[in-house]
Parts: sequence; C-alpha cells; structure tokens
Amino acid sequence: MVYKIVKYPDPILEQKCEPVTAFDTPELQQLVADMFETMYASKGVGLAAPQIGISERITVIDCAPATEGEPNPIVLINPEVILKEGKQVGEEGCLSIPGFREDVSRAKKAVVRALNVKGETIEVSGEDLLARAMQHEIDHLNGILFLSHLSPLKRDLIKRKIKKLIREHEWD
Ligand code: NI
Repeated sequence: MVYKIVKYPDPILEQKCEPVTAFDTPELQQLVADMFETMYASKGVGLAAPQIGISERITVIDCAPATEGEPNPIVLINPEVILKEGKQVGEEGCLSIPGFREDVSRAKKAVVRALNVKGETIEVSGEDLLARAMQHEIDHLNGILFLSHLSPLKRDLIKRKIKKLIREHEWD
C-alpha cells in the first residue's frame, strides 16, 4: 500500500519518534513493505516512518533509483550513528518538502547500528549518498528536517515560500 506522504509543517515531522519494541511481527513486516512501496512510488532514496504519519524509529533507504545501480534496500530500526568521518557538501531534498533542494553539509562516511525486522542487530557502513541518506533519515526519527541544517536566512526563505504555497492551495 502506498501511503500519502506527510508534508511540512505537520507537527509529527518535528517530534522525536518512539523506539520499536515488537519485532518479527506481520504488522512490522507489512509496514516496512509499505514504506518501500511508498518510497519507490515517490522516487525517493529514503523514507522515515513519521513521513507516513507513524511516529516510530523506522526508516527505509535505497540509493539505487538515484545512482541507477542494483536495488539495495536497507531497513534501519531504532538506528544510531556510531561513527562519522569526513565531510561532504551536496544537494539534499526531502519528500516532505517537495520542490526544495539545498546544499547540506554531512559526514562523508557513516556507520549505523540498527535492528532489522527480526530484531537482529545490523551495522551498515556507507559513504557519499548512502551516508547522506542515513544521516537525513535518522534526523527524521529525531524530529529534525534538513531545513535545520541551512542558514537561518535560507530556512526562513523556504518557510515563507511554503506558507505562500499553502495560501494558494498548492501544498497539501
Ligand atoms: Ni526527508
């Protein structure tokens, strides 16, 4: 099932999500499958549960649509960044803030420890786009949007443009 994506400024996007406590359940498997379906339908490289209105620490990532590589679906539940190295500055967007892309500085490399749907501990190491996607998605689980990484000037400009789009009913 493809969910409708929650857009900024819905308050759920700025709340810290709750850890998942029940693993290896049909409900969790279905939710993760639906998150992938929703992400691929939107041509995104990552999706976090709050973006479909569920305030739980679950995110799915697949950079393949952007890199034209083989599919590489990654599920991170209750994830934590355990190592960050280097720096990359590159354009970033968000399915909850469609139409806006800005340069964001992130660690070039990131190692994340998380649980999979069975509740097993996994570690995922990524560089470049995968590292960026993991940092962006884990931010979502902490209620942080990429707007928070911009200068106040750029952030306010985007917020004003979104308010205008809302007034003109061009943003739902
Ligand atoms: Ni996002």
